Amino acid sequence: MRAYGGYLVLIGIGVLVAVYIAFQSFFTSFGFDLPIDEEQVGMEDQIVIKFSHVVAENTPKGLAASRFAALVDEYTDHRVKIEVYPNQSLYSDREEIEALQENKVQMIAPTTSKITNISEKWMLLDLPYIFPTDAALKEALNGEVGEELLNHLAEVNIEGLAFWSNNFKQMTSNEPIRRPEDLSGKNFRIMPSPVLESQFEHFGASTSKLEFNDTFKSLEIKKTDSQENTISNIYSKKLYDVQKYLTISDHGYLGYVVMMNQSFWEDLPPDIQQQITRAMDDTTSWLWDKAKEMNQAQLQAIEEKSTIEVYTLSDKERKLWMKEMTSIYPEFEPVIGKDLMEKMERIREKYIE
Ligand code: LMR
Repeated sequence: MRAYGGYLVLIGIGVLVAVYIAFQSFFTSFGFDLPIDEEQVGMEDQIVIKFSHVVAENTPKGLAASRFAALVDEYTDHRVKIEVYPNQSLYSDREEIEALQENKVQMIAPTTSKITNISEKWMLLDLPYIFPTDAALKEALNGEVGEELLNHLAEVNIEGLAFWSNNFKQMTSNEPIRRPEDLSGKNFRIMPSPVLESQFEHFGASTSKLEFNDTFKSLEIKKTDSQENTISNIYSKKLYDVQKYLTISDHGYLGYVVMMNQSFWEDLPPDIQQQITRAMDDTTSWLWDKAKEMNQAQLQAIEEKSTIEVYTLSDKERKLWMKEMTSIYPEFEPVIGKDLMEKMERIREKYIE
């Protein structure tokens, strides 16, 4: 009888071991790694923030996004994980704002021109030659002008966190562009913003609002023949391979507004908000110099490795462009608002030589 009981205990243990092994291989086969890595802060407690953007990783915005993710991981002691999705791998620029408002992603960093349809005052930043120098840009975005713009995003359920700079735009085309009248007859790929439309149409050019990742193709198949962008975007998308001339005009600003879904942001614990803000501030100040440095180095690389002809406007030519292009300002004062325009004008005047 005793021997019989002993067999039963052994069979019981055997069954338990078999069940344990079967469950472990079942979970592992579905990608659940057991045991859980202790360093990962009890997975159920980790806050995951999806951050989607449309450019390559090796661009000012791409690098800033990765740096921000690493800093958040460090400052929150792994409690927050920023998952970065570059190259529109989740959403295109047309889709990402809606995805943010619906909390399908929690963070995006579109070019400011791309939010002018949901917050018109942002057209201010698209005005040609609105920032005559880097110093004017910094003073405006780090001061009252920037604060006012970020505050407007609350009206559309968005928390504006920071401005990430990618420097000034240049023009590329299949024909030389040296004077404003050279714009006539060209078809420019532009970002969706009424200011950018007017900036070119005012001089007899036509415009096509196309997504960033369709730009190369549209130039290649000659649906458009010209475009404006920063050097880092021209470089990373190899636009120099499908354009013959590059004019260094610094005629407009291209930067990003880093945004979070507002309800998501407000639900974050205050200490987490504080560490995210700290990581954001550190990334933003790092990016000011980094973006400039990258744009300069990549211009040199374009000059060395491509056949595109680079022309830099002289001071005299630049003044002429500025005079002509700023003539579109009055058209946009009613939407941007007199008050904001005046604040910007006061800064602008300080830096115009
Ligand atoms: C563009 O569409 O040209 C840019 O907004 C791309 C980017 O995000 O820098």
